[in-house]
Amino acid sequence: MNTITLTADGSNTLYNETIGEHYHSKHGALQESKHVFIDAGLKFATTDKSAISILEVGFGTGLNFILSLDYCTNNAIKLDYTSIEAFPLTAELIAQTAYNQYVPATIWDSFINNYDQALKQKQPISDYCNLEIPHITLSAFATKEQFDLIYYDAFSVQHQPEMWSDETIAHVCTFIKPGGVFVTYAITGKLKRALKANGFTIEKLPGAPGKREMLRAIK
Ligand SMILES: C[S@@+](CC[C@H](N)C(=O)[O-])C[C@H]1O[C@@H](n2cnc3c(N)ncnc32)[C@H](O)[C@@H]1O
Repeated sequence: MNTITLTADGSNTLYNETIGEHYHSKHGALQESKHVFIDAGLKFATTDKSAISILEVGFGTGLNFILSLDYCTNNAIKLDYTSIEAFPLTAELIAQTAYNQYVPATIWDSFINNYDQALKQKQPISDYCNLEIPHITLSAFATKEQFDLIYYDAFSVQHQPEMWSDETIAHVCTFIKPGGVFVTYAITGKLKRALKANGFTIEKLPGAPGKREMLRAIK
């Protein structure tokens, strides 16, 4: 059961009662998504690129996706977005987040109208973007594709420790190209060691409001 909750920057998030955690920071869903995934991830990874492939872990409400599509559209960057989601939300619940106010109507409409289909197969969302949301757990996900950028947006280690185990991190690392970038809102010694063991260089960056630090790693 998920309920809509207001966060400190005025944007909504969902509270998942089974896991006991919000989908985003309660200090601000929108500002966290922009800070961690768009500013530290997408902007950094596209400085010299006109096309990017992103693998997200945990599609949830699609907030990271719509902000990424907006950024890529404004900067003429082709976007190939794959987002693994074990427990997809309904389009009706996603619409209740009111995230439509953060992107142009064309982006929101093409996202929400194609969402159900993207859960089944890769779907064109615009001239700039394809979206695919494999309805599967991360551990069962397999592909030959390798991605330029990973958004690791799993629930926290306190609530879903298996998403942060050495085995899970090693598994997700197989999907990143050499030179590819991994970003997440969390940073722990264990995560840093797991990424280093898989050939990554670690950067500690200032976290989104409410968190001191976040992690960016380069393969
Ligand atoms: C922190 S939320 C993601 C928030 C999302 N990026 C957004 O912008 O709304 C974590 C997501 O991971 C999903 N999830 C939980 N266990 C999973 C698993 N084993 N494999 C893939 N996704 C999982 C949850 O259903 C949830 O949507």
